[in-house]
Amino acid sequence: MNKEQDIIQSWQANAGNWIQIIEDGGIPSRKLATNKAIIEAVCADKPASVFDIGCGEGWLAKELAERGIAVTGADIIPALIESAKEKIKGNFVVASYEDIAEQRSSITDTFDVIVINFALIGKESTEQLLASLPGYLSPGGKLFIQTLHPHSRKQMDDYTSGWKPGSWDGLGDQFIQSYQWYFRTLEDWLELLNRVGFSRISFTEPVHPQTRQPLSVIFRCRV
Ligand SMILES: C[S@@+](CC[C@H](N)C(=O)[O-])C[C@H]1O[C@@H](n2cnc3c(N)ncnc32)[C@H](O)[C@@H]1O
Repeated sequence: MNKEQDIIQSWQANAGNWIQIIEDGGIPSRKLATNKAIIEAVCADKPASVFDIGCGEGWLAKELAERGIAVTGADIIPALIESAKEKIKGNFVVASYEDIAEQRSSITDTFDVIVINFALIGKESTEQLLASLPGYLSPGGKLFIQTLHPHSRKQMDDYTSGWKPGSWDGLGDQFIQSYQWYFRTLEDWLELLNRVGFSRISFTEPVHPQTRQPLSVIFRCRV
């Protein structure tokens, strides 16, 4: 099996664990800073429509729907999409990044905002998906990507782009089937976004309120 398939198999195996940990508020960095940061970033320009890609069980889509935004969500894992459908008024579809990139999903609309929150895990799947996203944005629309802060690798003396182990680190023993994920340096993120057609790229860096360490980076860009 290749690394991209390993990622999907692992999410399939851990969907129930993921729904539970999100419902329990079990990831401290999310409660401390990153959830609020992405909600504020997305809502700043008052979008009417948002496409949440890799939406998981839908917590972010729910927050946005509660603010009156029309939400569409997509994820490869059926159990996560079912969970989203149960609690949120919106359009939720089972689709892989490849489906979206190749326009094989039922999603044909364009959106004021596309948001991808901690969901770009693979290499080719990410590159393929990002290259297709200009076609899903309304004129003037924006893409927001929140991802692990690239400098977290610096602390591990390994600040190079590439496949890295440790997908479920810190989340608990109930998570099984660890997979490798594709890490990108800040320079490589900016290069990739430029290469696939995005410009006016800016980013913010939510920090841990006590330790002041960077938790994530939120890229904001448009075509
Ligand atoms: C860390 S979770 C983030 C979920 C959600 N965005 C959130 O903020 O909680 C990563 C999500 O990406 C999805 N995902 C990973 N690779 C995918 C792919 N190739 N196609 C579609 N979804 C994928 C997983 O199923 C999972 O729901």
